[in-house]
Amino acid sequence: MPQIGRNERVRVSLTLDGKKVSGLAEPRMLLSDFLRQQLSAGAVHVGCEHGVCGACTIRVDGRAVRSCLMFAVQAQGCDIETAAGLAGEDGELDALQKAFRKNHALQCGYCTPGILMSVTSFLDSNPDAGEDELKDMLGGHLCRCTGYVGIMRAVLEYAAARRA
Ligand code: FES
Ligand code: FES
Repeated sequence: MPQIGRNERVRVSLTLDGKKVSGLAEPRMLLSDFLRQQLSAGAVHVGCEHGVCGACTIRVDGRAVRSCLMFAVQAQGCDIETAAGLAGEDGELDALQKAFRKNHALQCGYCTPGILMSVTSFLDSNPDAGEDELKDMLGGHLCRCTGYVGIMRAVLEYAAARRA
């Protein structure tokens, strides 16, 4: 890979929620900032910016990733999914989003997009995950509003529906 100057901006092209897009990033720019500032991906929330809160979680090539722990240039050519891509073209919420709404699993909603991406990714790889495993996975997300009861109800309901 050719050397890139510290302040030089390079073009990063990727797929965002099914659409081919690109933008300019300095080598040190975080993927979370790139997605929000260059690509207007408002479903990528930023909290701690050091990998603790989980608010910035997206899927990169199918795997849940904290976008504040990746540089934008590392996402060149990747398939990026955010919570904005979960709903259908017509705006109808997907089954997990519906379960969140039904079970009052969000209040301010700041943590929600990241949790949705972690849950879908985790259940893709662990479709038979039980309550303890799901709780463990949710432990990687900080929610200051809900006390997690509604979130857990929604996730369990969604996991059971997927299995059925
Ligand atoms: S903003 Fe990335 S984990 Fe908190
Ligand atoms: S709903 Fe407010 S932080 Fe989780």
